[in-house]
Amino acid sequence: AQGRIVVVGSLNADLTIYTERLPNPGETLQGEGFIVNPGGKSANQAVAAGRLGGDVSLIGAVGRDSNGDMLLASAAAAGVDVSRVRRADNVETGVAVVTVDAHGENSIVISAGANGTVVPADIAAAKDVFDGAAAVCLCLEIALESVEAAARAGNDAGATVLLNLSPFAPVPEGLAEAADVLLVNAHEASQFLGGADIPGPEAEAGEWETVRLKFAEHRLDRAVVTLGAHGSVVLDSLAEDGRRVTRIAPTKVDAVDTTGAGDAFTGALAARLAAGEALAEAAAFASVAAALATTRKGTQAAYPSLVDVQARLA
Ligand code: RIB
Ligand code: NA
Repeated sequence: AQGRIVVVGSLNADLTIYTERLPNPGETLQGEGFIVNPGGKSANQAVAAGRLGGDVSLIGAVGRDSNGDMLLASAAAAGVDVSRVRRADNVETGVAVVTVDAHGENSIVISAGANGTVVPADIAAAKDVFDGAAAVCLCLEIALESVEAAARAGNDAGATVLLNLSPFAPVPEGLAEAADVLLVNAHEASQFLGGADIPGPEAEAGEWETVRLKFAEHRLDRAVVTLGAHGSVVLDSLAEDGRRVTRIAPTKVDAVDTTGAGDAFTGALAARLAAGEALAEAAAFASVAAALATTRKGTQAAYPSLVDVQARLA
């Protein structure tokens, strides 16, 4: 059975230029190609989950412009219910200006646009969508008070609340507490834990034990730390089999564009959790989905289907 996944947050048009290397301050570089393609962390999470068979509803806002049309079409094409994406008046759709270098690494600047109009009332108006939901996916590209309202709505519905602390911002204690599974990269993990040392990418599971305990002090019993090309680590103080730290090995790929790989991970994780899979198994699946997403240019356009991921796992 597939439980419903509710994704609350941002939609952005990604304006991406490919270049040999990222520019330095004050420098102008000649790029090697440009695409406008659908992005935004929450829309990405929704599309990733939808492509992998999830039953997904997206809550957010876009403007009344062609970028908004593009984002709604991309999500709908992945089977995502976009009926709760509001079209905001007098404000443009969110935009991300993305630069991707020859190694697939990126730097991104976003302009919130319509994402900045999402308020707790939008979440209250979608109570019927939360009812009976299995998972709720959140990131930090909309106002924190709206993220917190969505986390509470997820708690009330008995859903598993996944919180991706990206782009990083200090979050109120109540929001961290309302999250069931925290998703962070190593840098975000360190920032969240007040500058704590995070084990290096090659560290064994045992070296992550202190990090698990630190998250638990913040009432975060379950966290996944993604390590880019080095795989990920699942910290699960509630693991039924007692495996509190699980190291997920990397999936070897030739990365051309890593934009949105973390969102692919979050969406895939939600899809598997909503299907009833245990956290460590779901993370192993999500790790493959995220790696495959880096092998093609673009963000949502690069996300794998269920068949793609299963073929790689086989
Ligand atoms: O995580 C990648 C996303 O961050 C991009 O799609 C961009 O829109 C920004 O939101
Ligand atoms: Na990609």
